[in-house]
Amino acid sequence: MTITVIGTGFVGVVTAAVLARHHTVYGLDIDEAKIAKLRQGLIPFYEPGLEDLVQEGLNSKKLIFTTAYKEAVENSDVIMIAVGTPSATDGTADLKYVKAASQALAPHLKKRAIVALKSTVPPGTNDKVKRWIKKHTDQSFHLAALPEFLREGSAVKDTQSPDRVVIGATEPPVIEKLLKLHQPLSGDRLIVTPESAQMGKYTANAYLANRIVFINQIANLCEKNGADISEVVNVIGKDTRIGSHYWYPGLGYGGSCFPKDVMELASYAKSVGEGMGLLVKIDELNGQRIHQKLREFSKKSGGFKDKTVAVLGLSFKPHTNDLREAPSLTVIPYLQKHGAKRVKAYDPEAMEEADRFFRQVVFTDNPYEAIKGAEVIILLTEWPELVNLNVSKISRLAAPQAVFIDTRNQYQPQEIRSAGLTYIGIGVL
Ligand code: UGA
Repeated sequence: MTITVIGTGFVGVVTAAVLARHHTVYGLDIDEAKIAKLRQGLIPFYEPGLEDLVQEGLNSKKLIFTTAYKEAVENSDVIMIAVGTPSATDGTADLKYVKAASQALAPHLKKRAIVALKSTVPPGTNDKVKRWIKKHTDQSFHLAALPEFLREGSAVKDTQSPDRVVIGATEPPVIEKLLKLHQPLSGDRLIVTPESAQMGKYTANAYLANRIVFINQIANLCEKNGADISEVVNVIGKDTRIGSHYWYPGLGYGGSCFPKDVMELASYAKSVGEGMGLLVKIDELNGQRIHQKLREFSKKSGGFKDKTVAVLGLSFKPHTNDLREAPSLTVIPYLQKHGAKRVKAYDPEAMEEADRFFRQVVFTDNPYEAIKGAEVIILLTEWPELVNLNVSKISRLAAPQAVFIDTRNQYQPQEIRSAGLTYIGIGVL
């Protein structure tokens, strides 16, 4: 089968590279510089395993990066739209890139091609796309929704072996073709309407975001009464109705999806005359959390004024160099605003990216360099390299009686305390 994936952002490149193992795939973008780099196997972001996969596709010539709509679309049985849908000022999903892609692909469609929306969009978007395309072609074509559920940091694995492949389509030949397209991938197949597929995507993200906000609230209570949040998670997790995953407390969710999708769903609710209540509250509580925690950390560690602070982990989660809505973007300016003498920082992959965001931060070559002389150490991202540090070495290098703030509960409080440091965790005393 021949496929075009429009948009070579995160989702587009991963999808194109994974599918090129089994089909001929055009990765299409209007950004010529980006396409030139991709043709050389250069990926504009860090994602484990992706570079090798792209190279494999380029070598086999089954992965073709192009800026030419005609070349790609006229050969394709399925055209996936995977462009960005940033939030508009009113919080709704801005469909301008989806519209531009629909208009550009329309004149080149071959008969009965399937246009599938992979971008995260509200239900009802398929009808809009159909209208936009119809204005530019008389060709017969079909529409479908193919939402994605991949996570940054494990995107290749998530795409090759997803929990489920959701096919939002109603016409039998379309369903058949999309099943064939996904046949080499594992995971359950769910055939639903396009509206259910798109609601399912927003619902999954909003629910996961809700879970994080909820467990963070419970963590706050644990800090008041001496309960240990990880023990509480064990207690609830054994209930099969609840489950033990995705209850990991911290400074709140970040990244490019949850903050945006929660508010887009809220705006969608408003647009159809429904209340935004819970969704807006999720966003509000998550947004407030990091400042509340920073005030508490400051109080517990005697303030940050005139101190050297080591910040470990800058990306919003491990195994990515993505800093979008990362805790570091709030934590570092807060430290600087509250008088920290020096902020030293280390991240295994995000240093280059971080250099664009932070001023007057000393980036170090390894975590121990950052810790040297620090009166406060803050672990923000649970990179494997950062959760296995040698505690006695930390205590030797840091300033005497340094404070260790473990925002990801990766260290044993007792071990840190025995090494002569003050330990502050989340949801644990
Ligand atoms: C999320 C979803 O998990 C994917 O299923 C979805 O496809 C993707 O958004 C998307 O819409 O494209 P992602 O943003 O890559 O994926 O990252 P997650 O691993 O879900 O983490 C999101 C945020 O929640 C991070 O800040 C993470 O630290 C935080 N988190 C996650 C917690 O604080 N606790 C947890 O238990 C899990």
